[in-house]
Amino acid sequence: MATQRTLSIIKPDAVAKNVIGEIYTRFEKAGLQVIASKMVHLSKEQAEGFYAEHSERGFFGELVGFMTSGPVMIQALEGEEAIAKNRDLMGATNPKEAAAGTIRADFATSIDANAVHGSDAPAAAEREIAYFFGENEICPRG
Ligand code: TYD
Ligand code: MG
Repeated sequence: MATQRTLSIIKPDAVAKNVIGEIYTRFEKAGLQVIASKMVHLSKEQAEGFYAEHSERGFFGELVGFMTSGPVMIQALEGEEAIAKNRDLMGATNPKEAAAGTIRADFATSIDANAVHGSDAPAAAEREIAYFFGENEICPRG
């Protein structure tokens, strides 16, 4: 097993529900460490750049509108198989299909207001962490 880093975002719906702490507890109980974090109200440009891979999708405008509708909590997580582990904690994109006990099953409202983002592969994790954090904002405990 490899130690990895992944980028997680607690989206505006979950921040509004006041469940940042509950979601952080799930990361910690799964053995993931928060090594960087910041709360941001994303600009349209920041959200469009972050989700550039989806720019041709029909839901892109709604996605950007939702992601800029309120503050988000952004964190880099580190741990064994962090990318897959975080995706397992999150559950399926559509909360109706998310397994019981996952973050999306418990806190998401709909496929667009779905509580959390998580990187889906190592290259995405590297790009996404660098998109939001400089090297001096990342604090691994070693
Ligand atoms: P995607 O990367 O497919 O999902 P995930 O967040 O699980 O990696 O899509 C990115 C986000 O786009 C998703 O979290 C919510 C939004 N989205 C929609 O609003 N409608 C859709 O049909 C899809 C597929 C995604
Ligand atoms: Mg994705």
